[in-house]
Amino acid sequence: MSLVNTKKMLEKAYNEKYAVGAFNVNNMEIIQGITEAAAEMNSPLILQASAGARKYAGSVYLRKLVEAAVELHPDIPIALHLDHGESFEICKDCIESGFTSVMIDGSSLPYEKNIELTAKVVEYAHKYGVTVEGELGSLSGVEDNISIEKEKSFYANPDQVVDFVGKTGVDSLAIAIGTSHGAYKFKPGQKRELRFDILSEIEKKIPNFPIVLHGASSVIPGFVEEINKFGGDIKEAYGIPEELLSKASRMSVCKINVDSDLRLAMTAKIRKSLHENPSNFDPRKYLLPAREAIKEIVKHKIKNVMHSENKI
Ligand code: G3H
Ligand code: 13P
Ligand code: ZN
Repeated sequence: MSLVNTKKMLEKAYNEKYAVGAFNVNNMEIIQGITEAAAEMNSPLILQASAGARKYAGSVYLRKLVEAAVELHPDIPIALHLDHGESFEICKDCIESGFTSVMIDGSSLPYEKNIELTAKVVEYAHKYGVTVEGELGSLSGVEDNISIEKEKSFYANPDQVVDFVGKTGVDSLAIAIGTSHGAYKFKPGQKRELRFDILSEIEKKIPNFPIVLHGASSVIPGFVEEINKFGGDIKEAYGIPEELLSKASRMSVCKINVDSDLRLAMTAKIRKSLHENPSNFDPRKYLLPAREAIKEIVKHKIKNVMHSENKI
C-alpha cells in the first residue's frame, strides 16, 4: 500500500467509534518506533510533520523516511500529514512534494480570514486528492476563575463549527474543548476535564464529520519521574487523563495528536541509558531503548486511547 490520505481512514474511525493516532515525527528512530507499533497492532496511522520537524530534519528526509516505513509495512494505511501548516504556500509545497494530508492552521486569524485561507487550501489540495484539516478556536489552557464570557471564547462554538465547515469544505476540524499543547496543560490542583457537552452538541449539529484533538498527550508520570531521576528537571506537569481521551475517541473525535508523550518517553530512556552507561559513546546504544519506548507507548495508546487495534 502506498501513502493514503485521511478521508477513508477518518470515515471508518467515525463509523466504528475509534480514533486514528496522529504522531509527530522528527527522525528515523521516532518513525520506526511508531510504525512498528501500528503494524503490530494492525492499526491505521497518521505520521505528521510540524514546521519545527521540517526545519530540523528537512521535508525530503522526513518524506523519504516515511516512504521507507510504508515500504516495510505495506499492510497498514499510513498518511503523511502536515501539522499546523502556517500558510497557503507551505501547504502547497507539501502537497506538491507528496504529503497526503495537510493542516492549515488559520486559528490565530480573524474568523473570516481563517475561512478565506482554509477554503483556498481546500480548493487546491482537493485537486490532488489531498485531505485538509482546519482549526478553529484557541488551544491554550483555560485559567481558573475567569469570567463565563471569557471562558466561552476559549472553547469551540458549535454554530461556528457548522458555519466554518460549510464555508470551507474542510475534511476534518481541530477544535478547542480543553486540550492544549505541551507538557504543562493544567495547573497543580486544577481539575482535568474536557468539554464533552460541547463535543456532543457539535456531533448533533454536524453528524458524520470527523473532529480532531490536538494537545492530547497524557504526560505519563513514570516518564517524568525517570527524567528527573536521571538528572532532568521537569516541574509539575499534567496532561489529559487517558480515560477522557478514550471517551472522546468513542465520540466524533477521529484523530488524536500526540507529540509530547513521545518526547518524554524518548528523553527518559536516553537519560537513563547515559546515566547507567557513562563510558558509552555509541548513539545506537541509547537510541535503541528510546525507540523501544516509543513503540511501547504508541502500542499502549492504540489499545487504550485510540481503540484502533485491528481496524484495518
Ligand atoms: O503542535 C505542536 C507539535 O508538538 C510540534 O511541535 O513545532 O516543536 O515540532 P514543534
Ligand atoms: P501534545 O503536545 O499534547 O503532544 O500535542 C501535540 C499536537 O497537538 C501536535 O499537533
Ligand atoms: Zn497541534
